[in-house]
Amino acid sequence: VNNEEQAILDAYQWLVKLYHHLLRHSKDGKKALEYLYDRGFSDEAIDQFQIGYSPTSRDFIAQFLEKKGFHKQVMANAGLLTAGNEGNYYDRFQARVIFPIRNHLGKTIGFVGRTITDQEPKYLNSPESSLFKKSKLLYNFDLARSEIRKKGAVILFEGSADVIAAHQAGVMNGVASLGTSLTESHTSLLRRYVDTVLLCYDGDDAGQNATYKAIQLFKKVGCNIKVAALPHNYDPDQYIQEYGSDKFREQVIGTADTEMVFLMKYLKKNFNLKLEGDRLQYVERVIGEIAQLESSIERDHYIRELAEEFNLAYDALSQELKSRIRNIK
Ligand code: UTP
Ligand code: MN
Ligand code: MN
Ligand code: MN
Ligand code: MN
Repeated sequence: VNNEEQAILDAYQWLVKLYHHLLRHSKDGKKALEYLYDRGFSDEAIDQFQIGYSPTSRDFIAQFLEKKGFHKQVMANAGLLTAGNEGNYYDRFQARVIFPIRNHLGKTIGFVGRTITDQEPKYLNSPESSLFKKSKLLYNFDLARSEIRKKGAVILFEGSADVIAAHQAGVMNGVASLGTSLTESHTSLLRRYVDTVLLCYDGDDAGQNATYKAIQLFKKVGCNIKVAALPHNYDPDQYIQEYGSDKFREQVIGTADTEMVFLMKYLKKNFNLKLEGDRLQYVERVIGEIAQLESSIERDHYIRELAEEFNLAYDALSQELKSRIRNIK
């Protein structure tokens, strides 16, 4: 790290403490604390994840950083302040719940700020920098790493709130990418620790599309993939709040779908299975996916299922599968 990066690390360290203190002890922070309690965050989790609150002020943080001797333009580069057009600087995060983003060493290198006053955007992130690279970072990787290694499995969520809710529910091997889609550096990092990845994205269309994309990326690094099936339009955090920890562990994490079951459900949405033409296209599409499975036992299992579901001849589907496999090789 160069001097500027060191100053940024120091500033983040100060602000983690300050924001957390303001959440816990300021009058302004009270409504943020209540907001967190309403969402089911425990005191323990608030402390462990060092959650904080950025006050409703244009320059509270700007003044604090100035008193500590930090260079304001450097702090603006770090995304802690915003430069105005008359050489003035004001606070980037205002009236937001602050989730510190730690790197693999546990050092905070960015913030995610969620509005509690319906500001746009709902989530504001620190900007990209040499220290804060969203395409490489996974939220909570530092805390979850030993559990990920122990289990040989990682659970991937969409948001920090989901990771924390799962942690409170006793599921400690969860991480999240930071509002960006998954990258090859995420998947190859995780591959070094695990054989199995469990995708637990939101149960809306965006979450399901992201799941499909994540599957393609994890296939490339040879992970065994499972997909948690949440009720339509639920996300993990909401699910836990409504149904509780036990149900989350048993009904969501414990009974995840295989990759192929997810793909079949997912692809079905693009076809009108009442029409014969669509049904046949769907079957061909699924056979294409089955052909990519490594295990011949699994391939046979899904071909049988498909034959049964659509009342087609097993031998015909088997033939088709064989020719698809020849084409792959
Ligand atoms: P979601 O859109 O699923 O968040 O984004 P949510 O579940 O509705 O949020 P809550 O529960 O109301 O608080 C998932 C994640 O994507 C990132 C955030 O990390 C968020 O947790 N995100 C989302 C952003 O970075 N920016 C955004 O504007 C939205
Ligand atoms: Mn949303
Ligand atoms: Mn979402
Ligand atoms: Mn969500
Ligand atoms: Mn949510």
